[in-house]
Amino acid sequence: MMKISLVQFSPEFGNIKSNSKKILDYCNNIESEIIVFPELAFSGYDFRNREEAFDLSFEFGKEYMIDLQNISTKNNKIICVGFSERIDDKLYNSAAVFLPKEELSFTYHKVHLFFKERFIFNESEKGFLVKYYEDYDINVGLMICYDWRFPEASRTLALKGADIILCPSNLVTNVWHISTPSRALENKVYLAIANRIGNENRNGTELLFNGGSVIHSYNGSDLIKASVDLEQTITAEISPEKTRDKSFNDFNNIFSDRRAGFYAK
Ligand code: ACM
Repeated sequence: MMKISLVQFSPEFGNIKSNSKKILDYCNNIESEIIVFPELAFSGYDFRNREEAFDLSFEFGKEYMIDLQNISTKNNKIICVGFSERIDDKLYNSAAVFLPKEELSFTYHKVHLFFKERFIFNESEKGFLVKYYEDYDINVGLMICYDWRFPEASRTLALKGADIILCPSNLVTNVWHISTPSRALENKVYLAIANRIGNENRNGTELLFNGGSVIHSYNGSDLIKASVDLEQTITAEISPEKTRDKSFNDFNNIFSDRRAGFYAK
């Protein structure tokens, strides 16, 4: 049994200093073993163009990332946060996952780019990732926001052994609430969606981010859900090992019952 907390807040666009202070303060004060922040939590979301996103990006393992790795290592915590990641001349909509053993820390690059993100970020080349952290006996998988619309994303992560899928998000619709409980149920995994709140009006369109961060249990139920507009931390207890037996009665198992030969590519 362990605890996971999701931090729902409104990053101030372009103010990396203030956003990172908030992120670090939360990390220092939350006791849970896993802490998850929204997508692009350091910078805000609605970049005018790729140049602006470059200016508000940094490299994994540098700058604010060093502080987060130090907190993760010192306090034995798994920390996940969305950021604009620069690798040479490439730019990714990324989630950093800090594991207490620094050599295990990694970034996930968003696979399905939403709306005008395709003009800002590079496409992922490394796909879906799952990492095991022995101290907590947990397999952590990652997706970001719009990835929810593709059942293949959570299925791939579950087939790769995820016990829990962390999903930093900047969601602007409500329809995802219809779908995400099913992603948890059909894969028998926990699914933790850390959404942001607040609004941005930068490109002639106002984006309203609607919170509702949620931790789904592996049976599709909500363990806890946040409000639509408050800065809030929500926390739930999870038992990662309970997701591993994919049977749900004496004769059926959601993985070994699959008939992959009949599925379209
Ligand atoms: C989204 O993918 N930020 C909606």
